[in-house]
Amino acid sequence: VSIVDAEGGLTSPHFKILGNALFSQIEIHKEYGGVFPMLAKREHSKRLPMLLEKTLKEAEMYELSDTKNNPDIWMDIKNILIKEDGLFEDFKKKFENIGAPKIDVISVTSGPGLEPALWVGISFATALGELWGIPVVPANHMEGHIASVLMSEKREIIFPALALLISGGHTEIVKIEDWGKYEIIGETLDDAVGEAFDKVARMLYLPYPGGPEISKLAQKARQENLPHIAKLPRPMIHSHNLNFSFSGLKTAVLYYIRDNFKDKVLSQDDKADIAREFEDCVVDILTIKIKEAIDETSAKTLIIAGGVIANKKLRETFTKMEEEYSELKVLIPTNELSTDNALMIACASYININLYPEIIKRREKIIAKGNLRLKSLS
Ligand code: KG4
Ligand code: ZN
Repeated sequence: VSIVDAEGGLTSPHFKILGNALFSQIEIHKEYGGVFPMLAKREHSKRLPMLLEKTLKEAEMYELSDTKNNPDIWMDIKNILIKEDGLFEDFKKKFENIGAPKIDVISVTSGPGLEPALWVGISFATALGELWGIPVVPANHMEGHIASVLMSEKREIIFPALALLISGGHTEIVKIEDWGKYEIIGETLDDAVGEAFDKVARMLYLPYPGGPEISKLAQKARQENLPHIAKLPRPMIHSHNLNFSFSGLKTAVLYYIRDNFKDKVLSQDDKADIAREFEDCVVDILTIKIKEAIDETSAKTLIIAGGVIANKKLRETFTKMEEEYSELKVLIPTNELSTDNALMIACASYININLYPEIIKRREKIIAKGNLRLKSLS
């Protein structure tokens, strides 16, 4: 949950963080080896009121008020929150006596993502909008990742731009003609790159999330200059299009382990060698495709976002691309802004509201769309 003061319009959008609170569920999902949807939903319900309270306090917007709300409002809010276990009771207890903060718009992710989890956020935001009389607008999760770079110091985006969005659920190359004008020009045909990191990590008996673990081991292999024994393929690099396939790479790791470690235990060095080769493969595949995309679109800005860009080797490789392409600016959000967060959703909505001010007045009923795709609105 975040509260942001936004100014500058589409030409020079800038943001001041008034309050921001995040609860990561990684520890909770670790024992399941991945995100467990119903648990994710329950945790969202449990944590949202507390996170909002914390954010309001940080923003100095948490003020007690004696004004009693119309009981009908509470009936409406109960109906909005009816499907979220215990959320209504907690919501009422926490916000019944709090005055409406001076906020112009509430923005909430409507997709893509896990629908049960998205619904919690949508119901919560809708209930708040009802209680405080504030309009609620939907935001696209992937547009949020793109807009996350607006939070950084170096935030000038020259169009046409490209975005490489790499996370546990997505691998897409997006051509951005201008704000709001998106076209997915390449995407994975099967697994997302983060998913491949997580699955390969599991094959190496590493905990979830696998990305950081693989990254650490790969770094060990490079630092200790371990011999390069593992060899893996680079699927689709000659496919003459901008699509990816990570499922074959994952299977290649599986076969490599099966064929070479039948009667031999995987040592820490073996794992490090595989991790380095796997990471190198991912770096090669992503850079080859992005270079093709830059040539095809004459992009002036390259935005890379999503949890996987926390990977050090990828960050270094993409940052260096500025040296290769004199007219290219590479924008990568900080690690905190790369993984899912509410600040990026505020940024995306600010852009959208500037493009389409009528969305505030429309007061449309927001629906969770698990497979929502980025597209140009017009
Ligand atoms: O964007 P994100 O936080 O969540 C969504 O999937 O939407 O991305 C999480 C993914 C996980 O698959 C995780 O393993 C990967 O990002 N990840 C990394 C690193 N840190 C997180 N992958 C490679 N290297 C890392 N250092
Ligand atoms: Zn994400």
